Amino acid sequence: MIDRESAFQLLDSQKPEPHLIHHAMQTEAVMTGLAKHFGEDETLWSITGLLHDLDFPTTKEAPEEHGKQSVELLKGKLPEIALNAILAHNSEYTNHDPTTKLDIALRCAETVTGLIATNALVRPNGMEGMTPKSLKKKMKDKAFAASVSRDRIRECEKLDLDLGQFFQLAIESITPIADSVGLVKRT
Ligand SMILES: [Fe+2]
Repeated sequence: MIDRESAFQLLDSQKPEPHLIHHAMQTEAVMTGLAKHFGEDETLWSITGLLHDLDFPTTKEAPEEHGKQSVELLKGKLPEIALNAILAHNSEYTNHDPTTKLDIALRCAETVTGLIATNALVRPNGMEGMTPKSLKKKMKDKAFAASVSRDRIRECEKLDLDLGQFFQLAIESITPIADSVGLVKRT
């Protein structure tokens, strides 16, 4: 399997905008946290998170291709289970329904990053002091980060994590890398 350094170089070679790299790294962090929590393969889960939107620079206008092109680029570099998860994170277009724990983890992990990042950017202290309770409030506020699918975030329940636990894990995963993923304090 591709190592982390090569995975990052491959991601960078697609010329992603900085916010996409930030999203990839936030997803990597949450996937690492989830793998640790479940005793799963941390390297596999984290690299799947890092690379899940690999093709986005070329598929953002062609959502039906999103995921499929990543899989083409990643054949032989990631195991089948990871390629399947990448397809399943865009199941609406790939018709590849999520079935495995990794599939579901990737979907909720990459989605919760949107809620957390948006919240960090409107808070004076960024990630510092963010609580699951505040994220639960944001979940209910449909106008906040409106494009972030609440249903997808709730898929964490299929992993037997309630929302509070999942938010706690995601906050704890992203906070240590906040400075390198664009979630710096504004004060
Ligand atoms: Fe994503």
